[in-house]
Amino acid sequence: MKTRRQSVFVLVFFFFVFNLYVGKAQVSIPAKFDGFWYENRSPEIDSIIIEAFFDPVCPDSRDAWPPLKQVLNYYGSRISLVVHPFALPYHDNAFVTSRALHIIDKLVNTTATYNVLESFFKHQEDFYNQPTFNMSRSTIVDNIVKFVTEVVGNSYYSAVKSGFDDTNTNQATRISFKYGCSRGVFGTPIFFVNGFVLPGAGAAIDYNTWRSIIDPLVSQ
Ligand SMILES: *[C@@H]1O[C@H](CO)[C@@H](O)[C@H](O)[C@H]1NC(C)=O
Ligand SMILES: *[C@@H]1O[C@H](CO)[C@@H](O)[C@H](O)[C@H]1NC(C)=O
Repeated sequence: MKTRRQSVFVLVFFFFVFNLYVGKAQVSIPAKFDGFWYENRSPEIDSIIIEAFFDPVCPDSRDAWPPLKQVLNYYGSRISLVVHPFALPYHDNAFVTSRALHIIDKLVNTTATYNVLESFFKHQEDFYNQPTFNMSRSTIVDNIVKFVTEVVGNSYYSAVKSGFDDTNTNQATRISFKYGCSRGVFGTPIFFVNGFVLPGAGAAIDYNTWRSIIDPLVSQ
């Protein structure tokens, strides 16, 4: 009887500790919705909203982008896409490349952000695993600054470089990650349409599948 009462006590205790922990771990709400709106197409009241969680150095995210872009061109203003960077811990340099996207978005414009994302996709094998295995963190950041400024223009070099010293860009990248976690994101690419997750997490969705998802919504 005594042990039973003890275990009930232990359970209640852990329940309180857990609640305390969750309460403390609450993420502070950012001033602006996380992510990058494609072509600045902010949503209208009847827009179909696609949220994409991409890791800039994830091959499946890379493969998911061309068909999605084709879909965005096809439906035009009926669709709004917001990309949230989601840095997977098992991809080297996922955080630093995600941070570069936030730096460019703040410094230049969203068009430039998408150009940089596309360049990361195109050259992502330069940034993860073996090729950077023996590089120091500062060499990697330097390389990324050079790489990014080749996309947006060399005049941004020093601004991009100091962007990596700005704690706000670090914070923004963390918020993207935490936002993904709060939505149950556990890999990339993961898509939500009008707030509902699509099946097939972690794999690219081809153009015809996208059409079969969006067509019925457009016709309603
Ligand atoms: C975004 O920035 C780039 C690079 O500075 C510039 O060429 C482009 O015209 C800008 N686009 C928009 C839509 O402001
Ligand atoms: C890293 O450096 C060590 C020591 O110089 C070398 O043996 C190794 O092959 C290098 N690894 C890669 C992936 O370049």
